[in-house]
Amino acid sequence: MKLEGRIYYRGEIIDACVEIEDGKIKTVKKHIPGCRKLRGLILPGAVDLHVHFREPGYTHKEDFYSGTMSAAYGGVTFVMDMPNTRPPVTDRETFLEKLSTVRTRANVDFSLYFMLSSKAERLKNINGAFKLYMGETTNAHAGEIIPTDAFISVHAELDECIRKTSKDLVDHDYARPEHCEVRAIKSLFDKGRFHIAHVSSNDSVDMCKIGKFTCEVTPHHLFLHRDMPLKAFGKVNPPLRAKWMTEKLWELLIDGSIDIVASDHAPHTYEEKDDDFESAPSGIPEVETYVPIFLYMVKRGRISLKRAVEILMSRPAELVGVKKGKIEPGYDADMIAVDTSNITKIKDRDLHYKCGWSPYEGFSAIFPHTTIVGGEIVIEDREFVGERAGKFVKINPF
Ligand code: DOR
Ligand code: ZN
Repeated sequence: MKLEGRIYYRGEIIDACVEIEDGKIKTVKKHIPGCRKLRGLILPGAVDLHVHFREPGYTHKEDFYSGTMSAAYGGVTFVMDMPNTRPPVTDRETFLEKLSTVRTRANVDFSLYFMLSSKAERLKNINGAFKLYMGETTNAHAGEIIPTDAFISVHAELDECIRKTSKDLVDHDYARPEHCEVRAIKSLFDKGRFHIAHVSSNDSVDMCKIGKFTCEVTPHHLFLHRDMPLKAFGKVNPPLRAKWMTEKLWELLIDGSIDIVASDHAPHTYEEKDDDFESAPSGIPEVETYVPIFLYMVKRGRISLKRAVEILMSRPAELVGVKKGKIEPGYDADMIAVDTSNITKIKDRDLHYKCGWSPYEGFSAIFPHTTIVGGEIVIEDREFVGERAGKFVKINPF
């Protein structure tokens, strides 16, 4: 396949043609005969290091098919799926079982996480990453730190520091305050190499710098805050903070102190979230909306296109060592095409999640019209045309 258009290439937008062979980009050149024209701006597909697609065990909330289809619609072409499923992914058996069920139903490329625990020592020869929970959260308990050279994403909230019940969004912030995150990150100093998931405060980012850890911020800690009328639909761990903190996190993302954005797509059913605050589970669905909202932020001038591509695409791919996130020879042919003048308002009913709701209803966004995974068109003119183009991809961090 050969596709031509306005391509984001090495920090610039150029008119060129991308030649694809065996799912990879072979060449990027000015003139190649027989190129198919793609309208709008062509960007690399986004790389999301943090999703919860709920399979196995909670497939009434999401499953690998619906989650990866939503990802494709939102311009995400590679996801790493978290292990807090039922059963949780803790050992070889649960990993291989999960892989065999999900691998034939993926609409974008993927990798999988294991829970970090003492069982993980026996996982030699299996390619994946680890998740370390330091405090209790939805379907997960505090795990153990064991030495490994693998990529470890950490949920940094110290178990003994947090209160496990709360009555509204402001109280939820008090129940799991920023200092519990800061202390958790500090306790990891000199214990290995870690990637800190969903940092929710500027002090946490400082702590990551001191500990030489990489870190990610979620869209909800940038776009939402605890004083919005979201009720339990905004309940998430770590909690939404005050509005001024979202502004601090934006600054730190733009100045390079925060490495990447990852969605932490964590769907729960409408009925569960519509329940009283205390019993509602924590988690927010995001995978389909965050790249389109960021593309709108680029349009509005809140962030440069260059920085947006780094935090959404190239840098997350580098962190886990996959040849993705760039349109360059040798990289996987994962791309999206967007018409940057087509600004739409997000509507729950247009999204593809099983849970059927989003806290971003009414937000402005620019959705890709085309999504390509490994050289296969998955979304074309906003229609889903390329079922099951996704494959399991080995990561190679550090
Ligand atoms: O709010 C959260 N929801 N935080 C987590 O750590 C887990 C996630 C989920 O799986 O629902
Ligand atoms: Zn998560």
